[in-house]
Amino acid sequence: MSSPLISTKGATKSFLASKRGMLESISRKRASYIRAVDHVDIEIADKEILALVGESGSGKTTLGLLLCTLEALTDGEIYFKGMKLDKANLGKARRQMQMVFQNPSESLNPRMNVRSIVMEALQKYHLSKEEKQNQFEESMSAVGLNPREFAGRRPKDLSGGQKQRVAIARAIASNPTFIVLDEPTSALDASIQAQVLNLLEGLHQQYGFTYLLITHNIAVARFISDRIAVMYAGKLVEIGPTDDVMTDPKHPYTQALLKSVPSLVARGLEAPTGETPSLLRPPSGCRYHPRCPNAMEVCKTTDPALTKVKGSSVACWLYPTMPEQQPSTASNFTAVQT
Ligand SMILES: Nc1ncnc2c1ncn2[C@@H]1O[C@H](COP(=O)(O)OP(=O)(O)OP(=O)(O)O)[C@@H](O)[C@H]1O
Ligand code: SF4
Ligand SMILES: [Mg+2]
Repeated sequence: MSSPLISTKGATKSFLASKRGMLESISRKRASYIRAVDHVDIEIADKEILALVGESGSGKTTLGLLLCTLEALTDGEIYFKGMKLDKANLGKARRQMQMVFQNPSESLNPRMNVRSIVMEALQKYHLSKEEKQNQFEESMSAVGLNPREFAGRRPKDLSGGQKQRVAIARAIASNPTFIVLDEPTSALDASIQAQVLNLLEGLHQQYGFTYLLITHNIAVARFISDRIAVMYAGKLVEIGPTDDVMTDPKHPYTQALLKSVPSLVARGLEAPTGETPSLLRPPSGCRYHPRCPNAMEVCKTTDPALTKVKGSSVACWLYPTMPEQQPSTASNFTAVQT
């Protein structure tokens, strides 16, 4: 990959488990933390579309918020355009990032009209009134909404698809470089989903945005992304070119995800069998080991690091861990699988 637009090193985010956890922490002098994102190293190239998939609770939104600098890291580093983000340059970087949140019905302020919603995103950009109006009109037109017709409407006067278009207009109004799209189509009807996906792809081509697209829907990931990253219980377990991940998934969890989508048609991902692990007390070693049909002794005790396997990177003991090692052979893989 050419030098990434944005990357993380050891990105980690812990949350206090609950208010009860907080009380326990006072009495036991030890807080209960959920590590929602656990030492994730990820790189996203300029103008790339990276899809992020994984079961509910695996840390996708939290990683998106960290990358967008809307959540502070507990540990680790973020680099944007080659610069390590710190207090001095965070504001400047943040102005080049935007996030489209999971549910437009919740993320659009019901008391504001569309014009104010979109213009609000321009507040910190020191633009004149006229420039703001131009940005509003251009971004509304770019998402296929007539600025004059929609300016005065409130979210309750919009369909689901129109709300999502307004949310996208708000995100692009400030000409960002990097946009995190959190489940941008999951709240929409199937026919509208396709329209919004086509819109996002068109905007990407027209303006060269870099996207991190979070989705439960593997068909969406396949349609739009250059690469797919897979998260499991706060860890990045596989990342690679979309075609490779779709046709030759390496990690047993990725394989289970793909198997759960009949014919890979536009259906939501179903969870692989077994329970998702508690992030409060995650399994030792590889977090997938209690559900993994390939689990070995080493998997129970030692967490595998991401290793290059052909064009992908995979965190799994089925693959050799030496940096320049050739990928495990197909026969090896089949033997362990059966
Ligand atoms: N602000 C918070 N405070 C406490 N725990 C949190 C907070 N935000 C997220 N979590 C926890 O972190 C874990 C990861 O949550 P996250 O929302 O990132 O998952 P996700 O993969 O986006 O899930 P989904 O697919 O359901 O949106 C979950 O266990 C969640 O309960
Ligand atoms: S490391 Fe072991 S338990 Fe984890 S996915 Fe690979 S084979 Fe399965
Ligand atoms: Mg989420």
